[in-house]
Amino acid sequence: MVNFLIFGPPGSGKGTQSVMLAEKFNLLHLSTGDMLRAEIAAGTELGKKMSTIMSKGELVPDEVVIEMIAHKIDGSKAYAGFLFDGFPRTVAQTAELEKMLNDRGMKIDCMLALDVEHDELVKRLIGRAELSGRPDDKDPAVIENRIDVYNEKTLPIINYCNERGLYLPVNGMGTIEDIFGRLVEAMSKII
Ligand code: AP5
Ligand code: MG
Repeated sequence: MVNFLIFGPPGSGKGTQSVMLAEKFNLLHLSTGDMLRAEIAAGTELGKKMSTIMSKGELVPDEVVIEMIAHKIDGSKAYAGFLFDGFPRTVAQTAELEKMLNDRGMKIDCMLALDVEHDELVKRLIGRAELSGRPDDKDPAVIENRIDVYNEKTLPIINYCNERGLYLPVNGMGTIEDIFGRLVEAMSKII
């Protein structure tokens, strides 16, 4: 199995690119954001608790997403590997993911980190607000908070991965197709 993190700030295109990459390379796309939104849509107790946190653009507790991922990484032998999107989001989640994978004879093979300018992130998320129905896209103050939370709590993962030789920055500016081409080129060297 070959396991990738697709990493980047809110609006950097993680979800957009993951769907296309998962299909191209036969990877299982695991997005904790999508899993949490599915809990909310299903009206579960967990979903109700998490929706307030998510609508403010704050991170949900590490244990919640770690447990969700742990349930998904067993029994997926049909895939060539995993593509983790929006997870991990803290150094603690990263260390836990490494442990979960190591315990199963796997590892994180590469972190693909999308670099996108701040104003472009805001533009993309505001553009998505009408279509997505996501409460965290509707309010510009919440978008800014998501970016702040990313800079404070998520960005340190780059150092963690860089120290382990896993960090691979990818230019995330340009068209969806151009960025897909860059990611495919980078991943083809690893797979
Ligand atoms: P999550 O769902 O992960 O959201 P996010 O990180 O804020 O990122 P987005 O999904 O908004 O952006 P994206 O990078 O996927 O971009 P996309 O491809 O959609 O998390 C939501 C919340 O859940 C968090 O705030 C937190 O509360 C909670 N959560 C989730 N995971 C967690 C975790 N591990 N720990 C704790 N809490 C967690 O693109 C955005 C838009 O831009 C789209 O409209 C797209 O069409 C457009 N677009 C994409 N690429 C381009 C391009 N090249 N040019 C023009 N437009 C483009
Ligand atoms: Mg996403």
